[in-house]
Amino acid sequence: MSEKYIVHEHDVVIIGAGGAGLRAAIEASNSGVSVAMICKSMLGKAHTVMAEGGAAAALGNKDPRDNWQTHFRDTMKGGKYLNDWRMAKIHAQQAPDRIRELETWGAVFDRTPKGLTNQRNFGGHTYPRLAHIGDATGLELIRTLQEKGVHMGMDIFMEFTVRKLFKTDGKISGCFAYDRNDGSLHVFKAKTIVMATGGATRCWAVCSGSWEYTGEGYALAYWAGAEMGDMEFIQFHPTGMIWPPSVKGILVTEGVRGEGGMLTNSEGKRFMFDYVPEMYKDEFADTEEEALEWVSEIVEGKLATVRRPPELLTRDVVAKAINSERDAGRASAHGGAYLDISWREPDQVRKKLPGMYHQFKELAAVDITTEKMEVGPTAHYVMGGIKVHPETQETTVARMFAAGEAATGLHGANRLGGNSLSDLIVFGKIAGENAALLAKDVEEFLPIDSNEIENAIEETLSPLSRTNGENPAKVVEDLREMMQHKVGIIRTEKLLKEALKDLDDLEERAQKTSAGTSRIYNPGWHQALEIDAMIDVSRMCTLAALHREESRGGHTRDDFPTPDYRYWGKINSVITKKDGMKIEHRRYPPIDEELKKLLDIEDLHEEE
Ligand code: FUM
Repeated sequence: MSEKYIVHEHDVVIIGAGGAGLRAAIEASNSGVSVAMICKSMLGKAHTVMAEGGAAAALGNKDPRDNWQTHFRDTMKGGKYLNDWRMAKIHAQQAPDRIRELETWGAVFDRTPKGLTNQRNFGGHTYPRLAHIGDATGLELIRTLQEKGVHMGMDIFMEFTVRKLFKTDGKISGCFAYDRNDGSLHVFKAKTIVMATGGATRCWAVCSGSWEYTGEGYALAYWAGAEMGDMEFIQFHPTGMIWPPSVKGILVTEGVRGEGGMLTNSEGKRFMFDYVPEMYKDEFADTEEEALEWVSEIVEGKLATVRRPPELLTRDVVAKAINSERDAGRASAHGGAYLDISWREPDQVRKKLPGMYHQFKELAAVDITTEKMEVGPTAHYVMGGIKVHPETQETTVARMFAAGEAATGLHGANRLGGNSLSDLIVFGKIAGENAALLAKDVEEFLPIDSNEIENAIEETLSPLSRTNGENPAKVVEDLREMMQHKVGIIRTEKLLKEALKDLDDLEERAQKTSAGTSRIYNPGWHQALEIDAMIDVSRMCTLAALHREESRGGHTRDDFPTPDYRYWGKINSVITKKDGMKIEHRRYPPIDEELKKLLDIEDLHEEE
């Protein structure tokens, strides 16, 4: 007998309720269509809160020299020029308005003495650019959007996991989900869908994301035939907690370095001076004296006149430097580096970094106003994702849109800190607007094939009828450890090939796990289902990493340790599901000549 399911109908279904999902839902609701927002967790608990230090927008409040052109240039340079320049332009131009809009909706940003939205320094940004609320910016952004959104009449389905996207005549027609609490089954008919499902960093053992971050959004889009771009580029944030083991991976905001935090090794040396890449030599200090001068200018509220300290290099550079210091035998006591902000007035530390102060006090018994922190890289962000049209956010599957970390293009090979929050609100709005516009043009809901619904139900319930199998948690744990060691910060052909083989083995094990029989509050069942997505997302990353024979941004190959400017530096990877996982490589259209003038032309290596 077939299982019962509940059918819902909404013009626009938004999957995910982080910053991008909420912003898309607000925009779509505002245009008068009916909106459902489906989220895997409770509303308000999204990875958006892990962007602690701020949202990047060239408001020019702290330094009037800033403008969208410099933000565009910094984003392209930080992304090692693999960004979709059209998205980087839209983002830099629209971010200031999206921040001002948040203020009108009640976000309480920190202020300058003149009462303007305050901005702080962050890695790779030429000027202080991050609008912030202490070190809880993502949390305040979510709170503001949520408060605005819940009064707009959208239907919210919390603790629902989406398992399948339906297509009819090649177009998106809805999705299938189950309620994680009671195991009830649901079909959502939709005229358009927005994927705002965030990333997948739970595929690595040391990560800043919480349990939700298992990559279903990428997998659902890939299974539905969408093109996936640049999946090899994974951001390891340089500063996660490393001690005690129970808190390993928890984020230590880049805001610490933005406020003058210094990185040292076991010999007490400020090692980042040794790691300034050629492309950043003109911008970053090469002596401690110059770095200290920059810091005193900033602390005194002056405009910087000297080069920035190397701790504010981009995340890819800092994470690899910490790794290299460890490999050279100069790690901190527990295998990372020391981060020190204790030279600043204790009141200032507590005011600017209240979350970090409490986090270290409570979790590590470290008082950061007097003691050094111990930090190391943690998987934090996926630069790759679902390919989108730069102006509409529509994916390569008709009627499906994507925004935020779920989408790709803006960040290239490496994202600048703070560009994620502005990405969410800029492209969340665009996705919501265009999903609603298209939904208004669609008269009828497309029919969904009942066989497809039956198949989705059968696959979803299958772990509950398997007995004597392995615990799914063990398969997940093995996958995360494997990805950490074989597809981590440093990769080689040998390790990547081994990883692909391991993923096949893990897939076989995953198909035989047992998760108990109950549909009610059964975390084992949820995990047994999540593994499919984790395996395919890990496969996409590994395959793309194996093909890219160079090192660039969030992809480092020990066997190809330098960037290749002639070929790889100009080309992006695209993965699709066509008789298995297929990879090809493609370029974005050539950059507009006027915009090109904003870039550091020598970085482009055009002659090569
Ligand atoms: O370090 C941080 O506060 C993280 C910010 C981001 O990922 O954008």
